[in-house]
Amino acid sequence: MNTKVLIKKNQGKSVNTPVKVAVAMGDGIGPEIMKATLRIMEAAGANIQPDFIELGEKVYLSGNTSGIDTNAWEAINNNKLIFKAPITTPQGKGYKSLNVTLRKSLGLFANVRPVSALHPYVPTNFPDMDVVIIRENEEDLYAGIEHRQTQDVVQCLKLITRPGCERIVRYAFEYAKAFGRKKVTCMVKDNIMKLTDGLFHQVFKEISQEYPEIENETQIIDIGSARLAAKPENYDVVVTANLYGDIISDIAAEIGGSVGMAGSANIGRNVAMFEAIHGSAPDIAGQGIANPSGLINAAVAMLAHIGQPEVGDKIKNAWLTTLEQGFHTADIHREGVSAQKVNTQEFADKVIGNLDQLPEKLPISTLANGKGIVHIPDYVRKQQEKELVGVDVFLDWQGKDPNELGDALSEIGVYRLKLKMITNRGVKVYPKGLKETYCTDHWRCRFVGVEAKIDRAEPEYAPIEFEQVVALLSKLNYLGYDVIKTENLYKFDGKRGFSLGQGE
Ligand code: NAI
Ligand code: MG
Repeated sequence: MNTKVLIKKNQGKSVNTPVKVAVAMGDGIGPEIMKATLRIMEAAGANIQPDFIELGEKVYLSGNTSGIDTNAWEAINNNKLIFKAPITTPQGKGYKSLNVTLRKSLGLFANVRPVSALHPYVPTNFPDMDVVIIRENEEDLYAGIEHRQTQDVVQCLKLITRPGCERIVRYAFEYAKAFGRKKVTCMVKDNIMKLTDGLFHQVFKEISQEYPEIENETQIIDIGSARLAAKPENYDVVVTANLYGDIISDIAAEIGGSVGMAGSANIGRNVAMFEAIHGSAPDIAGQGIANPSGLINAAVAMLAHIGQPEVGDKIKNAWLTTLEQGFHTADIHREGVSAQKVNTQEFADKVIGNLDQLPEKLPISTLANGKGIVHIPDYVRKQQEKELVGVDVFLDWQGKDPNELGDALSEIGVYRLKLKMITNRGVKVYPKGLKETYCTDHWRCRFVGVEAKIDRAEPEYAPIEFEQVVALLSKLNYLGYDVIKTENLYKFDGKRGFSLGQGE
């Protein structure tokens, strides 16, 4: 499998080989803004070869609930690059989100959203903001593994993997290097989620060592997002897990004032997709007045990704110049700031006319000043010794008093597998719980291996055989306990692979 994400891959190659791109014209305003953007790219000398594909509304309404047909899949597989105008998801149930389908099937692990202020042409309180949010896109709570376990309790599995963390964190540093950014900030909540967010943070610490030229810092997500909202100019590249990234990328776009003008990229190991953040704007479709800026910015990011950052800079600087000159589409037109209201194609014409210009007030785009190519190496799994030392048995138990359950379970240990504690919603309620703790019908009962000889430093969490777990479950079942699930407790190279209960 090709696990290299190559940008600037045309460097050194003949400039005559155009990069093939699957282009979706989209729905609503999609075709209008795509046409404008393709015209600008062509005028700027972008060396691409569009392969037009049909995605979205038409495909949905033809009875295909995924919104994408086999021809489009084929084109995507051939081209490895998607440039997509917004599409309309028809109202009504049964239509699957095309973006989710693409992201999942193509393994698009990174969502990249640059937000920079365009003050005073687009109002914002943060004129110096220039942030890129890099969000992990495949894991975390978004794996969608949810279960109802008792009358009162539902759960959602948060999955964080080492290869997933390594990929996204390395992508963030490689992105910073390739595009001349100075700092990467990691946001996690590992003071609470010591294993999942702890792994993300650990991987960040490891990988940041390989990039001494790039500053790194880690912030707890709650205070981190508050500071991002208050002082976005202090941030450069931010890398974070899926849910946090979902939230802070919206915060960043909102305070940057340019939601309507931002592009986003979804990067995979083999395929990458570029699009505007906004939707198909059916309310203004067909009028020719839509702002193509979001798609133009997506095009700039795509050109940088495929090794044509100079063309990306050229377009971006022409676009910034056009904004400075006051040629504004209706959505951003303001008396006193704008010089002239222009429609979609007029705006594109102005950008084309400015292709050799640099902005005077807004920061000049310098994508081409970065160094190197984005390179994500294959993941290599390190073998560790895995030892079973206990089991968490989750019971649906309708009783009230934890002591009643705890005393009963203490009687039914199997060989060296003994009850250590019971928690309810993570809080220890046995032995010696607090009366005040509210208990639901969802009880986590931790049985651990206990060393025969108690003189060992840590008599508990001693190795056991899985047979003992099976025997325990069988016994519990025989005695009428409602076992809803189990989680094995492992040590990896002697290190605890599970969290302790609160109060354990
Ligand atoms: P929207 O972003 O299409 O529109 C929100 C508001 O912003 C509207 O008033 C619209 O006129 C305005 N607007 C958006 N883009 C503009 C532009 N380029 N120039 C000027 N004004 C612009 O969001 P909405 O209305 O929630 O969704 C409409 C459709 O778009 C839905 O079918 C939705 O599913 C789809 N959508 C597709 C996305 C994609 O393909 N990536 C992303 C978001 C929504
Ligand atoms: Mg979101």
